[in-house]
Amino acid sequence: MNLLEKSLRFTRAREAQAAGYYPFFIPIESSSGAEVIINGEPKIMMGSNNYLGLTHHPKVLEAAQAALHRYGSGCTGSRFLNGTLDLHETLEDRLAEFLGKEAALVFSTGYQTNLGTVSTLVGRGDYIYMDKLNHASLVDSTRLTFGKVCRYAHNDMKALERQLAQAPRDAGKLIVTDGVFSMEGDIVNLPKMAELAEAYDADILVDDAHALGVLGEHGGGTAQHFGLDAQTSLIVATFSKSLASIGGVVAGAEPVIHYLKHHARALIFSASMPPASLATVLAAIDVIKEEPELREALWRNTRRMQDGLKSLGYDIGDSETPVIPVSVGNIAVMGMQWRMLFDAGVFTNPVIPPAVPMHSCRLRISMMASHTDEQIDYVLDLFAQGLKLREAM
Ligand SMILES: Cc1ncc(COP(=O)(O)O)c(C=O)c1O
Repeated sequence: MNLLEKSLRFTRAREAQAAGYYPFFIPIESSSGAEVIINGEPKIMMGSNNYLGLTHHPKVLEAAQAALHRYGSGCTGSRFLNGTLDLHETLEDRLAEFLGKEAALVFSTGYQTNLGTVSTLVGRGDYIYMDKLNHASLVDSTRLTFGKVCRYAHNDMKALERQLAQAPRDAGKLIVTDGVFSMEGDIVNLPKMAELAEAYDADILVDDAHALGVLGEHGGGTAQHFGLDAQTSLIVATFSKSLASIGGVVAGAEPVIHYLKHHARALIFSASMPPASLATVLAAIDVIKEEPELREALWRNTRRMQDGLKSLGYDIGDSETPVIPVSVGNIAVMGMQWRMLFDAGVFTNPVIPPAVPMHSCRLRISMMASHTDEQIDYVLDLFAQGLKLREAM
């Protein structure tokens, strides 16, 4: 059979498009952060990881524009050769300080950061421990390693301990976990994980994509939230969420970062982050420091939405953060409820099998500091109507 024939057998997306229930790749025509325009109509954005609303902050936009004019639109090369700007190094110093580590290294996306970091550090004879609900980029990173991959049940520290106990005492061990889980919105049990890491001589890598700017007294992420900076060897984060840009960072001890800089193929064989994106992140870090009220607003909005959904009787799992997965039922109910919200002017993200079981599809909401009470209450009202629609089905 011809290799490309599988593309002809893939019909599900076209069927959903024809039925008017296709919720993916929707083009946004313009955006002001919490509100976007789609097909000429305004929609409340309830599906963005722009947690602090910084994509439209005046200081961020100004910094991006200035960098564009000073350095041009792109770096046209790898960090290793012609693609390092002074801005890359300034950003690395600022991020190391922000994350409480000796050094940091920026990559062009968070996905590449995970691929580059894990595949470079974990070699033959080493062990890597992965939460089953870790982000796809961490899963993919293990496909590039020669180490032994051990997966444990979600946030289950007993299961992790059983796996750690089976490895040879002197083998290299890296425990890899999301800080805030991207689909569930719950937080890793870092205190227990840190105890285990110490007992079994393992290192911890936390992916703080959804925690940076969100958790911790100064928005420094999961380790800061628990006061476990020293016990967390490596922090990875992306700039595509609270930091309003694109790119990623790994921060840790200086020799480790130096090693990664000279060995990570995802860094060396790919072009570097462009100037405007770098300047965006630098400005976003300043804003996070100068305007803690943004994080307060994010948490206020998160509580309002979580409390509202729970009081309506919705199951939001173990979410304790701005990432709120709302269980709505099977795929037909989910499609109906997603469409109803969309037509009423609300953008949410559907989560469908195989990411979740058949009967528990979700609409994933991500809260932002810039949502207003009126917007949140409007969305809650629509979720209340969704319950009635379900009963009528
Ligand atoms: C937990 C986690 N890690 C890594 C990434 C990848 O980041 P990026 O979008 O910068 O490639 C994401 C983004 O979806 C994420 O949620």
